[in-house]
Amino acid sequence: MSDNVRKRLQDLESASLDGGGKERISKQHAAGKLTARERLDLLLDPGGFDEVDRLVAHRSHDFGMQRQRIPGDGVVTGFGRIDGRQVAVFAQDFTVFGGSLSEAHAEKVCKIMDLALKFGVPIIGLNDSGGARIQEGVVSLAGYADIFLRNTIASGVVPQISAILGPCAGGAVYSPAITDFVFMAKNTSYMFVTGPEVIRTVTHEDVTMERLGGASTHSQISGVAHFACEDDVDTLGSIRRLVGFIPSNNAADPPVRPTQDSPDREDGALDALVPEDPNKPYDIKELLRSLADEGEFFEVHAHFARNIVVGFVRLAGRPVGVVANQPAHLAGVLDINASVKGARFVRFCDAFNVPLLIVEDVPGFLPGVEQEHGGIIRQGAKLLFALAEATVPKVTVITRKAYGGAYCVMGSKHIRTDFNFAFPSAEIAVMGPQGAVNILYKREIDSAPDPEARRSELVREYVEKFANPLVAAERGFIDAVIAPRTTRRRVIAALQLAANKRDWMPAKKHGNIPL
Ligand code: HXC
Repeated sequence: MSDNVRKRLQDLESASLDGGGKERISKQHAAGKLTARERLDLLLDPGGFDEVDRLVAHRSHDFGMQRQRIPGDGVVTGFGRIDGRQVAVFAQDFTVFGGSLSEAHAEKVCKIMDLALKFGVPIIGLNDSGGARIQEGVVSLAGYADIFLRNTIASGVVPQISAILGPCAGGAVYSPAITDFVFMAKNTSYMFVTGPEVIRTVTHEDVTMERLGGASTHSQISGVAHFACEDDVDTLGSIRRLVGFIPSNNAADPPVRPTQDSPDREDGALDALVPEDPNKPYDIKELLRSLADEGEFFEVHAHFARNIVVGFVRLAGRPVGVVANQPAHLAGVLDINASVKGARFVRFCDAFNVPLLIVEDVPGFLPGVEQEHGGIIRQGAKLLFALAEATVPKVTVITRKAYGGAYCVMGSKHIRTDFNFAFPSAEIAVMGPQGAVNILYKREIDSAPDPEARRSELVREYVEKFANPLVAAERGFIDAVIAPRTTRRRVIAALQLAANKRDWMPAKKHGNIPL
């Protein structure tokens, strides 16, 4: 290498490290955001980032672009490690042309995605971009489509995680939308297909960026984001935590973390968790934390459809995906959002060999015109379909109510769940006692000398006969009625028995989940 070339190489490498320059980096910091490289430093284990394509530059000559060629072209790509496990990353650099996506920028992202797929490692994308590079026109749009195709092909093969750490607007949103988990940073990130200005013109609605597509909106209302984090630092730390629960690819097992927490540990407090009064709420997360190794429950989609809880625990060191009705919110009823949230999580776990624990206390599907017109039939079917098709080890624990169609959906024996347990407080029936008695004995109650007294008597009889786990246990629909304090031991034992499970599916191209 001549001295000249060596000098050029040094200049280019240091230019790529400087990104868009000191002034733009200060602007980025002033906006409460970190640079792409600072973010990667926080995301990855120290000292092990293998960058690729640091010298790639755009090829545009229009609009004076030939005078502005910044090596790297607004995205940093490469491989690093999280807790020693390899991951592929791309981090858009807003200080370079607003992180906008050029042909070259897209090629860098595609290259890293192709390699990640070939190597079987997760892809983590840190998005902070003004969208398609305006100067490049359709070439930039083509770059987005190239990325969307790769997101789709990689789906179910390697985990894909997106962090939104700045703007992500227009069609660009569809790459994160396809990925498995979306993180957003509060107050510094937003996602929308059309922004406030266009909305004002078209529909005359007045809305701020934050309210339209900020982290709170997407984590609570639309469900687009699974996590709303405080800032960049919180987001990157949370991604590291998530990666600790998931395997590197669909042919690998989830990472095991040795634990001192005994698999036989009992928790007497669980015997009193479910209130005597069947209409009294309790927090199902208390049960999940009690079951988990070291009490750690990593919740996903915590602020969306809070009537169902999904997330990861470790049991005897092994990651397990949990889907649980939440009696503390809307009595744990299944509605449209809860069904979709649950189904998506179940499909991730099934695709990536994460066993499932289903915890059930569900009074049924939410009644109402809004729900019916919103398609609770096809939406609820998603959760049913996802749980029925899942071939990973599946264990269900019924703590209290398992009524009607929701009984079938929430991991019943009939949809090939491996082990079904019930607490003594379980009520497994077509419907709750009040509703059942009103339908079955309407005439008898109306004509009784004291209708209320007769109704109460009939409710007591119904509770005695049906609102318990015995009828289901007699049929073998429940494998065992367990003492709540022993839940951890029973679930761990069941998952160990099912660990090498092989389940059967007929050959098909793919199923047709009711979308
Ligand atoms: C080229 C861009 C750019 C873009 C920003 N920049 N967006 N350059 N193409 N899309 C440049 C700016 O010129 C500026 O350069 C620098 O990035 C920072 O931008 P600012 O506007 O100064 O930053 P800020 O005030 O924070 O505003 C950020 C912004 C705004 C809201 C994102 O830049 C903006 O509205 N950009 C255009 C967004 C857009 O309409 N994109 C196309 C969407 S459609 P200097 O040199 O001054 O630092 C799309 C389709 C995807 O993306 C297709 C998928 C199918």
